[in-house]
Amino acid sequence: MVIPLLREYDDATEEASPPATAATAPGGARIDIENVSHWFDVPGGNKLQALDGIDLHVAPGEFVALLGPSGCGKSTLLRLVAGLEPATTGRLAQDGAAITRPDPSRIVVFQDPTLYPWRRVRANVALGPQARGVLRQQAHRVDDALARVGLAEFADAFPHQLSGGMAQRVALARALVNDPRLLILDEPLGKLDSLTRLQMQGELLQLWQRSGFSALLVTHDVEEALFLAQRVVVLSDRPARIVAQLQVDLPYPRHRGHPRLAELRHEALRHLGLDASW
Ligand SMILES: Nc1ncnc2c1ncn2[C@@H]1O[C@H](COP(=O)(O)OP(=O)(O)OP(=O)(O)O)[C@@H](O)[C@H]1O
Ligand SMILES: [Mg+2]
Repeated sequence: MVIPLLREYDDATEEASPPATAATAPGGARIDIENVSHWFDVPGGNKLQALDGIDLHVAPGEFVALLGPSGCGKSTLLRLVAGLEPATTGRLAQDGAAITRPDPSRIVVFQDPTLYPWRRVRANVALGPQARGVLRQQAHRVDDALARVGLAEFADAFPHQLSGGMAQRVALARALVNDPRLLILDEPLGKLDSLTRLQMQGELLQLWQRSGFSALLVTHDVEEALFLAQRVVVLSDRPARIVAQLQVDLPYPRHRGHPRLAELRHEALRHLGLDASW
């Protein structure tokens, strides 16, 4: 995603324009993905098909995880939902309105936190409100967002002074400050060590439960998908088709050793074409 190059937080000047969308809109977005297929132009005048007839509906406030083989088209689907590019065919809508461009109500968090190294943590989190010219009115929300991810004390630190987990929490705070109605997560914990990853899964869950946004998570980690999501969608090899949808019928907080999770894990692995005999 292209983030506009902005001046340092402290000397930011602002326009009085209102935000593009109501950042305070309550609750999560409903997302409808209808019969979406997508092709890329590749060298030699050929087309590469990444998505094949995806039909997926995310209810307001729902947490949905996508699992699928590497290169099958998961990030492509997230990019279309984010509005970063148009689908070749099919329809994507948020609360009934066609998704045609990026919008602050839909925020993407990537595997790499992509913080600006020359901006302090607070200034990195302030990027969204600053870009929309509402930073002065919303300055308190920057600190609220940092507090929500447990980093209030590091507001004045620079990114190089943070651990990987802390940097990823800053990326989450940078998303949350926009009060997203849909959080789009592309392997957001993929680069963290396994202990930090488990801790961050719990934190992500709490943020979702407190904030009420809808969440669409791509992960390679079957346990992570089952621990976090209410529904796990399994995709085929490229071009991605939906091969199964598993309802994770367990309340939160979930116990990682729950026998139902073990059953669902076997089922997910089977749909991924892996012999789940271990
Ligand atoms: N801009 C692009 N131009 C051409 N091909 C692309 C482009 N973006 C992605 N692709 C191709 O589309 C396919 C799906 O890519 P995508 O990044 O969506 O996979 P993915 O499921 O997210 O993979 P991973 O799990 O490794 O992140 C791949 O074959 C990739 O090479
Ligand atoms: Mg990807």
